[in-house]
Amino acid sequence: MADTRFKLNTGAEIPALGLGTWQSAAGEVKNAVSDALSLGYRHIDAAYCYGNEDEVGAGLKKAFDSGIKREDVFVTTKLWSTYHSRVEENLDMSLKSLGLDYVDLYLVHWPVAMNPNGNHEKFPKHPDGSRDLVKDWSHIQTWKLMEKLVATGKVKAIGVANYSVRFLQELLPQATIVPAVNQIENHPSLPQQEIVDFCKSKGIHITAYSPLGSTGSPMFTAAPVVEVAKKRSVTPAVVLLSYHIARGSSVLAKSVNPERIKANMELIKLDDTDMKVLNDYSRDLESSGKVVRYVYPAFGVDFGFPDKS
Ligand SMILES: NC(=O)c1ccc[n+]([C@@H]2O[C@H](COP(=O)([O-])OP(=O)(O)OC[C@H]3O[C@@H](n4cnc5c(N)ncnc54)[C@H](OP(=O)(O)O)[C@@H]3O)[C@@H](O)[C@H]2O)c1
Repeated sequence: MADTRFKLNTGAEIPALGLGTWQSAAGEVKNAVSDALSLGYRHIDAAYCYGNEDEVGAGLKKAFDSGIKREDVFVTTKLWSTYHSRVEENLDMSLKSLGLDYVDLYLVHWPVAMNPNGNHEKFPKHPDGSRDLVKDWSHIQTWKLMEKLVATGKVKAIGVANYSVRFLQELLPQATIVPAVNQIENHPSLPQQEIVDFCKSKGIHITAYSPLGSTGSPMFTAAPVVEVAKKRSVTPAVVLLSYHIARGSSVLAKSVNPERIKANMELIKLDDTDMKVLNDYSRDLESSGKVVRYVYPAFGVDFGFPDKS
């Protein structure tokens, strides 16, 4: 199962399981990347904002030096919000750090521009502590600059992250290139069926992030997840990751621990009964308004998702 791939609207294939690198600390992420690639991962998810692309690049180099071919590895990175008017500049910064001359996928990390000349290079704030956003810059202008990258050969595909239906409905009529991917937070406690279905209908592939519930997750002990894990004699992590493959999505699992990096490859094919247990759980959470978002609230902006957490 770990070598499952999904076809993008560009015709390229994205490996179903990717290694996440958010919060992967300096001194750990180089080996995490090279260990993962030597174990058989072929998909690495990075971002300028994570501040560790140089170490991710060192891990890629170590793997390439060991004989793994660049063209066999799918590398994603992301445009940061303070660079929406300087898209190619931010891409070039990422490529330099990663030691690459192209990425397989370049994503708009969040559909909101932040002040490029504010009081912080990545997270500028107003004196009252609120986000320093550029209100007269539209995410559609950003997408137009993203589209220009394709002809440079520095990106094989472009896509978005954290786009709700509302944002995609604004974008798609203006787009020359339909995003290849929408990367969103996704797990049984946040099924996001609306955006998953919408993207499917438009040929936009979903990649699930924070599938394990991110750092300090309570999801490993959620009763329905444990129930399926026991029945299938696997760990809750395997259930949480396999859930996305069953939905036709790729999934990013972050770990810097060699055993967990290896264990996260043990994906299984969840059957209809397994998925019913997880889907019933999701539906109950949704209908009682109790879905859980781990990442979005930290941003503090309304991105148009129905739960508006
Ligand atoms: N586009 C976006 O806005 C966005 C936002 C968030 C994340 N992402 C991407 O998605 C990736 C994954 O999401 P995430 O980092 O938020 O969280 P995650 O992958 O859901 O969870 C990572 C946490 O789970 C632990 N872990 C990993 N495997 C485990 C296992 N088998 N058993 C128990 N614990 C395990 C990790 O610790 P150890 O490292 O110690 O194993 C870490 O604390 C990110 O790294 C990033 O690449 C994208």
